[in-house]
Amino acid sequence: MVTTNEEGSKVEHESDYDRQRELKLLDESKAGVKGLVDAGLSKLPRIFIHENLSTSSSATNNNVTIPVINLGSMHEQVSSRLEIIEKVKDACEKWGFFQVVNHDIPECVLDEMLDGVRRFHEQDPEVKREFYSRDISRTVYYNTNMDLYTSPAVNWRDTLSCVLAPRPLHPLQLPSICRDIIIKYTEYVKKLGLVLFELLSEALSLNPNYLKDIDCAEGLYMLNHYYPPCPEPELTLGTSGHYDSSFLTVLLQDQVGGLQVLYENQWIDITPIPGALIINLGDLMQLITNSKFVSSKHRVLAQKTGPRVSVACFFRQHFQPETSKVYGPIRELVTEENPAMFKDITVKELITHRYTVGLNGVRALEHFKL
Ligand code: OGA
Ligand code: NI
Repeated sequence: MVTTNEEGSKVEHESDYDRQRELKLLDESKAGVKGLVDAGLSKLPRIFIHENLSTSSSATNNNVTIPVINLGSMHEQVSSRLEIIEKVKDACEKWGFFQVVNHDIPECVLDEMLDGVRRFHEQDPEVKREFYSRDISRTVYYNTNMDLYTSPAVNWRDTLSCVLAPRPLHPLQLPSICRDIIIKYTEYVKKLGLVLFELLSEALSLNPNYLKDIDCAEGLYMLNHYYPPCPEPELTLGTSGHYDSSFLTVLLQDQVGGLQVLYENQWIDITPIPGALIINLGDLMQLITNSKFVSSKHRVLAQKTGPRVSVACFFRQHFQPETSKVYGPIRELVTEENPAMFKDITVKELITHRYTVGLNGVRALEHFKL
């Protein structure tokens, strides 16, 4: 079998038969990476080993950090709102990443959400396996590595996925152990999303409702990640380097750390701040803004300490009929000096490409360049 590595070159696997068998064994255990750790594993199985991890990854730079934006003063006076918009604009143009504080989601809700995800992954394996699936048309399911069979190396991570909007799910579809908090947290994230899309619209010099009116806030897809402690963290990754496909992602991480963003060819740590949320732009935002705003590559390191828990909420449609909506560079942002860089595409085309290529593939957006 031939797969594509992080740099886009072809990698050939020896002993393919064993690899496929090992992947299948892990999948069929329905217990994820957590199941391996619980079984007392002390060496990393070969399927998790990322070749050339030390040579292919860029240097780490700890002297810069992504911007932190305080949303608290937004309603106080016009001047502070304008200041916030200026900061958002700068962060979206340079980084495609920032953290927000005073965002109106109470810290106890954040803590309870992280705890709910931890409880889901740490519950009785027999209950959890009922949710195990690779059927991407399902609304709620749990598995390990959405690209298990297509990526060149497996990530040290399990995930519970939920499609939350535009079609509301039935609460009973959610696992009972974290049902109430997922519903509560989702309501808060939807509200925050609307605030952010307003700020982003203004940062693009568009009318404040512009991004909401073209349905950027309509779809919401949630990934609840669990990164178990790893016996040999230097050989693998928690999440391979990737670009989100969303318009915007609201990411909640616990205090363990390990998340990094690639900035000017260096990996920068996104250090946890208690009570803060990470906001990052995805490929759909870069596409509609004609690259005025950027989506950045990011990854999660595997670590000896753990578990690490995170909740990524992607504002974008999933595999639903609504995904037939077409998006291209916003007309107001295209000029003679700055002509359209991307084709008009449906959300479905983008995510189908993403799910076919997997996390480690060539950047999806490249595929839709004019
Ligand atoms: C993602 C992601 C980072 C994290 O789900 O797309 O980048 O901290 N997650 O889990
Ligand atoms: Ni991501």
